Order: sequence, then structure tokens, then C-alpha cells
Amino acid sequence: MEKLQQLYEGKAKKVYATEDPGLLIVSYKDDATAFNGVKRGTISGKGVINNRMSNRLMAKLEKAGIPTHFVRELSDRDTLVKKVEIVPLEVIVRNLSAGSFSKRYGVEEGICFEEPTVEFSYKNDDLGDPLINTDSALALGLATRKELAVIRAYALAVNLELSAFWEKCGVTLVDFKLEFGRLPDGTVILADEISPDTCRLWDTETGKKLDKDRFRRDLGGVEDAYQEVMQRLEAHDEA
Ligand code: TMP
Ligand code: ASP
Repeated sequence: MEKLQQLYEGKAKKVYATEDPGLLIVSYKDDATAFNGVKRGTISGKGVINNRMSNRLMAKLEKAGIPTHFVRELSDRDTLVKKVEIVPLEVIVRNLSAGSFSKRYGVEEGICFEEPTVEFSYKNDDLGDPLINTDSALALGLATRKELAVIRAYALAVNLELSAFWEKCGVTLVDFKLEFGRLPDGTVILADEISPDTCRLWDTETGKKLDKDRFRRDLGGVEDAYQEVMQRLEAHDEA
């Protein structure tokens, strides 16, 4: 499958049309941004790792019965995916306190929750992706009540699968962000990516951060952390 015209360039990926109107090619870049694009940089080799990691994890989720956009890896950076209409919500699942949760509620990072939390943000760069509740999402017509219920159930199912897998790798899945999309028939499936850009991954033994927080917080060793967490995945993934 060949890349045709570029349809979109985002912060970390480019999207191309293909000869099949139902399929797109996503191409992962090494560009990194944080704080809604205010901080910019490059994480060398990130695109390759995020592409491969996201594909491996999505394949695993498919096997577990969670539908995703993943079709086939085409190269180091390029993947064929199903074309969807993105639901303009960022769906965040948290197992431990960190990041904006800790800031918002004034609690330290690393508190382990009894139950995971699910949060929605309205995907809107101009507004800075504000937190939104389900009533407001319904009022804005971002999704239907049924879609929100499906999205929540999938997000929690993804958390169960991925938490168990990362645990085998000696990595704690602290939190992550998902995006969902609609197929032409209205079916909701998991889209976008699952990578160290979109997850917090802490070494279970040492607590070392193995994700994009190293870039966001200028902790150094960003490339090494991405490589390390990918190696852990490859060492424990039977596929
Ligand atoms: P937060 O604590 O900053 O709200 O982030 C929660 C999770 O969502 C974390 O794993 C990082 C991920 N995330 C994204 O993937 N994209 C974003 O734009 C933001 C703000 C967070
Ligand atoms: N991707 C987001 C941005 O640029 C933020 C983040 O991942 O922290 O701005």
C-alpha cells in the first residue's frame, strides 16, 4: 500500500490517504511537543519506537477483544490503519496519582488508587484540552451516551490488559491517554497511538520514569528511556 496525498500533519504524526478510501497510512515523527505545543524538541528514534510499540500493544488488545484501527505495520515508521472519524475526547485512565491529577488535587505523585479513574478531556488545542464531564460532552454533542459508555468500558478493558502486560515487564502503568474513532457504520474503535508519549511508565523496582515525562520535565536520558521500555516490551511479548 502506497502513501498518496498528505491529509494532515499533527505534532507527532503525519497522515496520508491511500488508494483505499477506508484506509490511511500514519507516519510517526521524532518531533516532541509538550504543554500544548509550547515546549518543542526532537527525541531521536522516537517515531520508530512509538510506531512499533503502538502496533504491538494494539495487536494485543485486538486479541483480547478490543477493536482497534490497527491493520498492518508497513515499515519502521509507517502503519496502515482504518480510517475513522475521531471522537474529540482524550480519554485518560489513571492507576496512580501523577501529572495533572496531582497538580489539580494537590496530592503527591505515586499514590496507588483502589480503583482506576477515567477522565475525559475535550480535544481542542485552542482551549488547551479542558477536562470535561459526560453531561457537558453530551451537551456539546461530542459523543452519544451510548458511545461514552462503550468508550469507558473499552478504556477500562485496555487498562486491565496493558497493566497486566507491563507488570510482566517490570513496568508500572501509571496512567495513559486513549483516543477513539467511529467507522462509517458508527462502530467505535480504539485509534491514535499507545506509546511512551501517551502513557506514564515507571520502572516498578526503582520508580524510574521511562516515558515522555523525561522530556516534559527535562530529566535527561529521554532516548535511552524510550529504548529501554521498548526492549522490555520485546523481551516479554510472545508475539
Ligand atoms: P496528565 O497527567 O498531564 O493529564 O496526563 C495523563 C496522561 O495522558 C499521561 O500518561 C500523558 C498523557 N497525555 C497525552 O498523551 N497527551 C497530552 O496532551 C497530555 C496532556 C497527556
Ligand atoms: N502532546 C501534548 C502537546 O503538545 C502534550 C503532552 O504530551 O504533554 O502539547
